[in-house]
Amino acid sequence: MLEDRFGRRFRYLRLSITEVCNFRCSYCLPDGYQGNAKQTFLSPQEITTLAGAFAGLGTSKIRITGGEPSLRKDLPQIIQRCAQTPGIQKVALTTNGFKLPKMVDQWVSAGLNALNVSIDSLDPRQFYAITGHDKLHTVLAGLDRALALNLPVKVNAVLLKPYSQSLLQTALTWLKSMPVTLRLIELMQTGDNQAFFSQHHLSGQGIKRALLEQGWTRITADKAAGPAQEFSHPDYQGRIGLIMPYDKDFCASCNRLRVAANGDLHLCLFAEQGLSLRPWLQTGDIAAVQQRLSELIGLKDASHWLHQGHSGATRQLAMLGG
Ligand code: GTP
Ligand code: 5AD
Ligand code: SF4
Repeated sequence: MLEDRFGRRFRYLRLSITEVCNFRCSYCLPDGYQGNAKQTFLSPQEITTLAGAFAGLGTSKIRITGGEPSLRKDLPQIIQRCAQTPGIQKVALTTNGFKLPKMVDQWVSAGLNALNVSIDSLDPRQFYAITGHDKLHTVLAGLDRALALNLPVKVNAVLLKPYSQSLLQTALTWLKSMPVTLRLIELMQTGDNQAFFSQHHLSGQGIKRALLEQGWTRITADKAAGPAQEFSHPDYQGRIGLIMPYDKDFCASCNRLRVAANGDLHLCLFAEQGLSLRPWLQTGDIAAVQQRLSELIGLKDASHWLHQGHSGATRQLAMLGG
């Protein structure tokens, strides 16, 4: 079992399979960085060894992230390798959704059990302003297809001034009949979005108060659920999740570890320093990878300390899959 010095257990691996992204979300890539496409990212074989090592240490869920993971042609194969690893019960994907209509059937056949799609606005013009792509219609069509396939779907929206007020109004109507969880994520400060952050950051606390006043109730999370707070309402098919990383107790329920597309282990979203796993992965020796992981887990810090004024050292969160 992977357990750190603070008694937190890690059964959830977030695996980035590429740094490359085709969208240009303003909060994520303020300087237009598109990821290092020249690097060789983990191969399906290395991913199989990685998944086997994590699963043997108690990991039951793998979320595949990027960059934009659907830009990899071998994504169906990667999903399948993860899903077929003994001990892995859930394979999830975080995507910007532009390939959903074409690909989601194939992903589900390969073993995908859950989907998170980034939709920062339900207004086509605002969606374009935020992402740089006029693709809201395609993404929503893909979402419908995913729901038709019975995939549990979460929709990620980063809270941004001035967009979020109108998003909330539209989204509340939308959630009446959409059986998805809308996750409202506080903008996080990274190494290169400081100016953007001070202009656009919006706290989730005011939204939480408003939801509670409107009859939404907190769903009691089980211990393994991770740091998001979820709310439901009897009149709505959809749910709302709040991710408020600036809350001081946010990291107490941390349940996840991250591996970047180059095979580095990141003990926290805000740990810039990756810890190399690749030489171990390349040998294909699962026991050796597990030995390495068991040593590294002791280095995990209690918190990201953002609430004490530290800014995130990580340059772009999405390169690590958020
Ligand atoms: P599930 O619980 O598996 O649905 O995961 P999730 O909500 O973490 O999944 P998703 O990939 O959709 O993450 C949404 C966003 O929440 C990420 O892109 C990050 O911006 C943020 N986030 C997720 N996990 C963490 C975390 O551990 N720490 C911080 N600070 N932010 C996180
Ligand atoms: N703050 C909050 N979330 C971010 N993401 C990327 N960058 C940031 C940031 N600075 C997350 C969004 C998006 C996912 C792919 O990455 O949640 O949906
Ligand atoms: Fe875990 Fe780091 Fe996220 Fe905190 S910020 S919950 S320690 S990954």
